[in-house]
Amino acid sequence: MRKRTRCESTASVPQFTNSPTMIVMVGLPARGKTYISKKLTRYLNWIGVPTKVFNVGQYRRDAVRTYKSYEFFRPDNEEAMKIRQACALAALKDVFCYFTQDHGQVAVFDATNTTRERREVILTFAKENGYKVFFVESLCDDPEIIAENIKQVKLSSPDYVNCDKEDAVTDFLKRIECYKVTYVPLDDDKDRNLSYIKIFNVGSRYLVNQVQDHIQSRIVYYLMNIHVTPRTIYLCRHGESELNLLGRIGGDSGLSPRGIKFAAALGTYIRGQCILDLKIWTSHMRRTIQTAEAIGVPYEQWKALNEIDAGVCEEMTYEEIQDHFPEEFALRDQDKYRYRYPKGESYEDLVQRLEPVIMELERQENVLVICHQAVMRCLLAYFLDKSSDELSYLKCPLHTVMKLTPVAYGCEVESIFLNVEAVNTHRDRPVNVDVDRDPVDALLTVPEHN
Ligand SMILES: *[C@@H]1O[C@H](CO)[C@@H](O)[C@H](O)[C@H]1NC(C)=O
Ligand SMILES: *[C@@H]1O[C@H](CO)[C@@H](O)[C@H](O)[C@H]1NC(C)=O
Repeated sequence: MRKRTRCESTASVPQFTNSPTMIVMVGLPARGKTYISKKLTRYLNWIGVPTKVFNVGQYRRDAVRTYKSYEFFRPDNEEAMKIRQACALAALKDVFCYFTQDHGQVAVFDATNTTRERREVILTFAKENGYKVFFVESLCDDPEIIAENIKQVKLSSPDYVNCDKEDAVTDFLKRIECYKVTYVPLDDDKDRNLSYIKIFNVGSRYLVNQVQDHIQSRIVYYLMNIHVTPRTIYLCRHGESELNLLGRIGGDSGLSPRGIKFAAALGTYIRGQCILDLKIWTSHMRRTIQTAEAIGVPYEQWKALNEIDAGVCEEMTYEEIQDHFPEEFALRDQDKYRYRYPKGESYEDLVQRLEPVIMELERQENVLVICHQAVMRCLLAYFLDKSSDELSYLKCPLHTVMKLTPVAYGCEVESIFLNVEAVNTHRDRPVNVDVDRDPVDALLTVPEHN
């Protein structure tokens, strides 16, 4: 479907509905541009839109190995200006390769691009190649938010290793001043034909202009839902179920005696965490509801959190699936993420179903999600930025809580086993995934991911 230009072409190329998109960050340093870039990229990749960040600052650090001081960023530093220009051009060239050779769909250009002139360079480049451009400008005039940002992410930057903290802050503030001299924000009138979103003071207000397509409106929707308030997300599965004990997948059974013990242990653990305004979500299935009941506080049920639908394989053991549907079983092992159970779902389907859950998790603060193995893998992959291939093999054992805390640009994860034994429901990818493999091989797996 997608049209691409050949490498040697420089003429203007028409845009198509599925033309690649460049997201161009605009704003002074310490306005959360890198945070937004990384987070947006993680989201787009998770929903299946191949996306990559191009951080011009990183190109600069690669070109100029040792950073001395803010002097480098002075607008009258001609030599440095040339280097910065060259870095931006190198990044644009890589964007081109990403779209043409690596099947990329969205490139996030993470730089300051604070002058109209510089934005023009990007617009021309995009026009020549038929790319769409969407600007994301972050404006912030709250000194406290800026100071917090510098403290959170800038002090650990490679620019300031072995540097006194206060000196680093002073240098960084001067660096911001350098950019302020030439910074021209996107203009209501002069830039009225450009597509952009302006984000004021980390989301207290937004201004959206000329959204061109579906992907841009999804980006706008996402950016309007995220927040930076510190919080914790707890993910776990239901307690061990009667069907888990029998080695059967899916179904809607209740908890086993050990599952009931886990539910009680989870209640004790959660109370011990003393979490402010904790929301608890379950699926519509008995095993998650019974688990939540034991905590003794109100909870909410989401149908979207139901376990992957195994279709004709529901309530079967892996041996039975191999017996009845050996070919299906092998196809699943070949591409577990995309494989769809007959009359059921694939992991890929599940990610689409879970998208509203992720969006609501972004809006909320402290949440405990009591869900299922495949569902938990999808949610965890989103927070930990795992590829679709890794996703379907993530280890999410029973009776274990994953505690996720957002830090700087990523997410810290702590895995807490609540000391109630349970069966192991994890099945690694077998070495032999041929359709005509020996049945013994189908049930023989060696651990690949640890
Ligand atoms: C965008 O901003 C970066 C960082 O300031 C700068 O180096 C680059 O020149 C700008 N992009 C273009 C195409 O001018
Ligand atoms: C916006 O586009 C219209 C129609 O193409 C054009 O007439 C106008 O000059 C453009 N405005 C600016 C500020 O570029």
